[in-house]
Amino acid sequence: MEKADNSIIRIAVLVSGNGTNLQAIIDAQAKDSLGPCVVKLVISDNPEARALRRAREAGIPVKVVEKKQGMSREVFDALLREEIVREKIDLIVLAGFMRVLGEKFVREFKGRMMNIHPALLPGFKGTSAIEDAFNYGVKVTGVTVHFVDEGVDSGPIIAQREVRIEKSDTIGTLEEKIHRTEHELYPEAIRYFAEGKLKIEGRKVKVISKK
Ligand code: GRF
Repeated sequence: MEKADNSIIRIAVLVSGNGTNLQAIIDAQAKDSLGPCVVKLVISDNPEARALRRAREAGIPVKVVEKKQGMSREVFDALLREEIVREKIDLIVLAGFMRVLGEKFVREFKGRMMNIHPALLPGFKGTSAIEDAFNYGVKVTGVTVHFVDEGVDSGPIIAQREVRIEKSDTIGTLEEKIHRTEHELYPEAIRYFAEGKLKIEGRKVKVISKK
């Protein structure tokens, strides 16, 4: 992937729904706490996603790439890729993007695509992680930001933050706590990437300190 500028990391955020994580990223950028990067593009596979409104309100260009009935994953991935390459994107940020991307796409953007998951991986993978952790009865759950690999919720872990489940918690209050934590952790992880502080060594991601 060709890099457009040596200093500013160009980000595409991929969304499907509400977009509260996108909002946290937009807010961090507005407060100058996202590091040397800029959100250049928001892509949604869902034309109704509230996230699209958030992007438009922030003046960020949006694209809808729908997986129409009968469309293969390869064709869908190729349409996504086109948008990403056209904007010379350096980092793809999955923020509630509800589609699994194919191996070819994942391989091309390895080390340049991250995801956020609402549990402490490798525990409670999948799409109902908050509820699953709550129902399992764990006392501590949390949030994970990881690079995306060919598996589901399985890539090298960049950052994790715990969230305690108190006796008084309900699924609703736990969801709120998890989302609050996500909104802190994701912009931090993106900033580390933008500052060149993340070094992948096999399964591990080292956060190196740089002056
Ligand atoms: C978040 O809980 C994230 O961890 C998961 O999907 C949810 C997206 O929420 N991958 P939002 O659309 O950012 O509000």
